[in-house]
Amino acid sequence: MLANRWKKLAPERQAAYGVGLIVACIAGVLMLLPGNESWHAAGPQNTGHTRIECSECHVRAPGNFVGQAFQNLTHAAGLTDSATSFVFQPVGNDQCLRCHLNPDDRHPLVDFLEPEFEPARQAMGVQFCVSCHQEHLGVRVSVTPLVCQYCHQDIVPMELEDDPVDVPHTSLYRDLRWETCLGCHDFHGNHDREVPIQLSQRLTAEQIRQYLDGGDSPYGHRRLTVIQTMQQNGDL
Ligand code: HEC
Ligand code: HEC
Ligand code: HEC
Ligand code: HEC
Ligand code: HEC
Repeated sequence: MLANRWKKLAPERQAAYGVGLIVACIAGVLMLLPGNESWHAAGPQNTGHTRIECSECHVRAPGNFVGQAFQNLTHAAGLTDSATSFVFQPVGNDQCLRCHLNPDDRHPLVDFLEPEFEPARQAMGVQFCVSCHQEHLGVRVSVTPLVCQYCHQDIVPMELEDDPVDVPHTSLYRDLRWETCLGCHDFHGNHDREVPIQLSQRLTAEQIRQYLDGGDSPYGHRRLTVIQTMQQNGDL
């Protein structure tokens, strides 16, 4: 099949693809040599990740490099129907959870596989860590603080009489004040924090921004750190 399509190509095109493949292989092999990691790094490591190995997240894709290169190249040239993972598999939750498993997470991602979260999954992939923590941007959190709206607009807020906040949640939701949520609540519930009951006591947009960008936490002490997770998993 493939060989037939290849034979049908004009000799000049065959030569061009051949040269392209060789150049790609040489460049690829050079980039993979030890010590050259920074050549192909996609950008600065995120907060806390400067000292962890690339291989903690980037797991090799099945098959060998030349096979993958050939399949992707022939796919690009329209000769085969499918591309393949090139060198590395996409980074998934499994990698993150090996070091960051938190049994008390107030937003466990498995919950978001339920049918009711289909719109939120479509809108921004809420079921994946890397949707909110895109790596290689040199930040702690890559998503906008307004992310809460994707789900909480559909979760009925607590009854007015139970609400301790001076501007009740029903008003905040009605007025689409999504920028205020992270001013009082963290996302994972992993900080020892007294949740304010007055809107004026919340963190400012600027304080939230500097934290998401990688600054010190304004939410206080973290209950569970990576070292504790790894101890729980028996990795340390
Ligand atoms: C904490 C996890 C993590 C670590 C550590 C990490 N990366 Fe990544 N990297 C990612 C994620 C997530 C992506 C987005 C694409 C994906 O899912 O593969 C990515 C993308 C990339 C890409 C772009 C590939 C593409 O598919 O667009 C390169 C190149 C890369 N990383 C190189 C490196 C190198 C080199 C290191 C070590 C210095 C490193 N990474 C360390 C998580 C990580
Ligand atoms: C090999 C272990 C390891 C892996 C895998 C890993 N991390 Fe980390 N991460 C760390 C360490 C170590 C720190 C810094 C110390 C700490 O936060 O306890 C850190 C810090 C962070 C922080 C900042 C914590 C803070 O408030 O200072 C975030 C956010 C984070 N990681 C998200 C992720 C995500 C998302 C993934 C998956 C793409 C991931 N990590 C994969 C080890 C890891
Ligand atoms: C819907 C967006 C979203 C998703 C999905 C998400 N996070 Fe976060 N994460 C945030 C936000 C916002 C913060 C900052 C507020 C806070 O500290 O809780 C944060 C903070 C963190 C922190 C630092 C504070 C802490 O809890 O220790 C770590 C570590 C972290 N996330 C890891 C992860 C991992 C691992 C996953 C996947 C299992 C993940 N996150 C999925 C939005 C998200
Ligand atoms: C993908 C959907 C989703 C997103 C995005 C989301 N949440 Fe939630 N959140 C939930 C669900 C589901 C619950 C549980 C509701 C229940 O038990 O009735 C919840 C519960 C909570 C709780 C109460 C937790 C408890 O223990 O009582 C707080 C506080 C909260 N979310 C804050 C936030 C903030 C702040 C953001 C934005 C940074 C956010 N959420 C984004 C789905 C989401
Ligand atoms: C002024 C601070 C403040 C702001 C702003 C705020 N909350 Fe709250 N929230 C609280 C307090 C206090 C509670 C009571 C429970 C507690 O102590 O965590 C609460 C409880 C909740 C609960 C749990 C409800 C239940 O039935 O147990 C959810 C969910 C929640 N908030 C979501 C949000 C979302 C989404 C936003 C953004 C629109 C938001 N909050 C904005 C202070 C705030």
